[in-house]
Amino acid sequence: MTNPVAEISPKDAAVVFESVSKRFAASGANGAFTALDNVSLTVARGSITGIIGRSGAGKSTLIRLVNGLEKPSSGRVLVDGVDVGALDEAGLRSLRRSVGMIFQHFNLLSSRTVFGNVALPLEIAGMDRGAIEARVRPLLDLVGLADKHGRYPAELSGGQKQRVGIARALATEPKLLLSDEATSALDPETTQAILALLRRINAELGLTVLLITHEMEVVKAVTSDVAVIDRGEIIERGHTFDVFTHPRHGTTRALLSGLPGSKLPEAIARGLKPEAAAGDRVVVRLTFFGAAAERPLISQLIKSIGAEVNIIAGTIDEIGGRPYGSLVVAYGGDAETSGKAERFFAENGLVTEVLGHVA
Ligand SMILES: Nc1ncnc2c1ncn2[C@@H]1O[C@H](COP(=O)(O)OP(=O)(O)OP(=O)(O)O)[C@@H](O)[C@H]1O
Ligand SMILES: [Mg+2]
Repeated sequence: MTNPVAEISPKDAAVVFESVSKRFAASGANGAFTALDNVSLTVARGSITGIIGRSGAGKSTLIRLVNGLEKPSSGRVLVDGVDVGALDEAGLRSLRRSVGMIFQHFNLLSSRTVFGNVALPLEIAGMDRGAIEARVRPLLDLVGLADKHGRYPAELSGGQKQRVGIARALATEPKLLLSDEATSALDPETTQAILALLRRINAELGLTVLLITHEMEVVKAVTSDVAVIDRGEIIERGHTFDVFTHPRHGTTRALLSGLPGSKLPEAIARGLKPEAAAGDRVVVRLTFFGAAAERPLISQLIKSIGAEVNIIAGTIDEIGGRPYGSLVVAYGGDAETSGKAERFFAENGLVTEVLGHVA
């Protein structure tokens, strides 16, 4: 399969990680630790790119390199062509004006109003009061908080606090927005509202968004591209649709197995065996999209294998606005039936994964 993320030319890249490693030195009883190992990754300008991985995989470390909160031990991180690791203090200050960041716990100042929080980066940049007013008001409109401008963080819901965080991140008119688990503390409905806001900002302001999360629903709903990081290494990347419908790495499959529709009914999952015995049925997940989604696949499958097919689970879903379907079916595991089924799957362009065998 082609690898679209790797093929972006550096001039179309908002961020380039070039063979980046990050080692943390030993301290006290803790030994040295390699958090990132030779990571190369390109974030396309204008994309919403997701970084997913288990806890401790290196996601936050990766994102902190982008705004210079960490420096690479080796390799380079380029933001709009500028080598972040080589910047001095003044260079870092200017970089941080062009890179906004939002956080899981919002990081608002409790002593400042909504307006005061959003205005803070502009005050630090030395902007005058009138210009600050002119910048902050439309941002509060954009995030839907115009009526809360005089409220304090303690008077806001989690979703409203994150809207303040987003407005503050946008105050200096950055070209890149970094998001570290920005929806992890929010309920599902509020998460969807914040994601819709991020999509709007991406579309209307042309802002590139680099988002890290352990929530696959978030990646599915909002990202165009995704990279999977495992123990400090990028193990898979591509368009989100391609990675989610053809995960190639076991870790990616494990991460995606939490998505609704990916789970098998408990009784089937318990009876599933890796090896087939005589007379067993084979359990296969079929993923289909495009034209295949519009054909009566199951009746055609039954016809071409000339045997019964059980449907065990199924969903129709959407990734980045593109519909796809997933069906788990079982049929006779004998060589003849399996051979016919495999030919049918290949002829119809279906992606298949053998999940196991049942008696
Ligand atoms: N300052 C540091 N000193 C030593 N080790 C660190 C430091 N920062 C991070 N690490 C280690 O690097 C690894 C990656 O940490 P990181 O915070 O990037 O993970 P993560 O993928 O963001 O995890 P989570 O999903 O739990 O937030 C972890 O094992 C962590 O303990
Ligand atoms: Mg983290």
